[in-house]
Amino acid sequence: MKNVEEAFRIKELLHQQSYLSKGILRKWEGPFTKVYSTIRTQNDQGEYGPTLLGSVPDMDGDSALEALDAACNAYDQGQGLWPTMRVEDRITCMEKFVTQMKTKREEVVKLLMWEIGKSLPDSEKEFDRTVAYIYDTIEDYKQLDRDSARFAKQDGVYAHIRRGPLGVVLCMGPYNYPLNETFALLIPALIMGNTVIFKPAKHGVLLLTPLLEAFRNSFPEGAVNVIFGRGRVVAAPIMATGRVDVLALIGNSKSAIALQDQHPNKNRLRLVMGLEAKNPAIVLPDADLDLAIDECISGTLSFNGQRCTALKVLYVHEDIVDEFNKRFSERVDSLKFGNPWEPGVMLTPLPEPEKPGYIRQLIDDAVDKGAKVINKRGGEVSENYIFPAVLYPVSKEARVYSEEQFGPVIPILPFKSIREPLDDMADSNYGQQVSLFGKNIKTLAPLIDTLVNLVCRVNLNSSCQRGPDVYPFTGRKDSAVGTLSVHDALRSFSIRTFVASKDNDYNRQILEELLDSKASNFVNTDYIL
Ligand code: G3H
Repeated sequence: MKNVEEAFRIKELLHQQSYLSKGILRKWEGPFTKVYSTIRTQNDQGEYGPTLLGSVPDMDGDSALEALDAACNAYDQGQGLWPTMRVEDRITCMEKFVTQMKTKREEVVKLLMWEIGKSLPDSEKEFDRTVAYIYDTIEDYKQLDRDSARFAKQDGVYAHIRRGPLGVVLCMGPYNYPLNETFALLIPALIMGNTVIFKPAKHGVLLLTPLLEAFRNSFPEGAVNVIFGRGRVVAAPIMATGRVDVLALIGNSKSAIALQDQHPNKNRLRLVMGLEAKNPAIVLPDADLDLAIDECISGTLSFNGQRCTALKVLYVHEDIVDEFNKRFSERVDSLKFGNPWEPGVMLTPLPEPEKPGYIRQLIDDAVDKGAKVINKRGGEVSENYIFPAVLYPVSKEARVYSEEQFGPVIPILPFKSIREPLDDMADSNYGQQVSLFGKNIKTLAPLIDTLVNLVCRVNLNSSCQRGPDVYPFTGRKDSAVGTLSVHDALRSFSIRTFVASKDNDYNRQILEELLDSKASNFVNTDYIL
């Protein structure tokens, strides 16, 4: 294992023997799937190859349905312990969870690096950002509860309005943010009183196993259930029962549609989704090129472009495109490739073994259709990587123009009139974000006014990103369903529900007694400080 620094060495394999269902870590008696890292190390025979990290249960449909039963029983049509629990008590459970989660930081960060190749600083950031997200969610939920701790009166009718849970949530996250994005669904779903079945993505699965005990220790039986296996085998039968009330998924629309199609009562199924995107950068002739290049480098190549918010196509005005291309290509070629724990690495091994081949196909196809690879190192292939190729000028017929590459390849298109990128964005299936680089407000103002209606976030002289997590994260067209942010997610996973009564002496006395007795968790005007 030479070159693997001692602190990050895999000292023993992690064989996850159990899954979480009905409040118990149940031993899985069936087959297991081996988990490999594409980071190559030497095996016992002295040969270099992908590194075995451990294994996870390869569960079947029946065991997945047991976990569904556990979630349904815990919800009990809204009558279960968890959905009827006082807000304060649900918050106590969540605080217990996050306290225990924090003790697993080192283990989770190490597995993030090995399983998905995320750099050490980014892996640490993913963990810390998720912990912060949980604390922010707790604070926002307290505020929501405070705002609801009162009666409204309109046209002689009193109303006590709150937000209530929706039911049973099937929660599935992506491999690129296996902790953060999954928890950005799971935590708000749970705290609002829903019960959850959570299935990790194909890559980035072992890193969740150190948290299973914290889930078991912190929440009532059946409130959180964690299963392992292939989506087709475990998630499809769960959906086919029609007992899932919310499908919460960050991933691609193909699997989202396939899962929705399984559900027999689509009108009952609520969706919270973050899907594909093809965020463009538009670089205007008066842009500050140093700044635009910096932002385009991080926008296109942070985590090797494996971010839904990554810049996936660059439109550069023809007056400056030669200068932009020259400087941008040099910068790309100067980026350091290495293992995730090496200081200063930006480019790291790709977790999907088939990804370098796919990116190679995109490059060859674009070149066939008239583009050139304009950086010296572009397309250099190794066992687990392909060096980012900067492609120019890319034809709209090329696959990389329309497919979400989700990897290290950067298509650049020149434009003369701003109508060209705007029309392309209008024609695109996606509508998440855009980055706009320029200075003159006479040009920027009308552009901003148009762009906000084509996407959901216009980043001015800044790369696209999801964070800070308190801001709304959503998209138009095929890019999202619903809105996620600390604040919005609490709303996406709940519904307004209220108690109303006509104002008369009889009802007023009952309401006063209800409030004085504190017998109801719902009709209650106590504040959580
Ligand atoms: O994969 C999409 C993520 O939501 C991107 O998040 O912009 O913070 O990297 P980020």
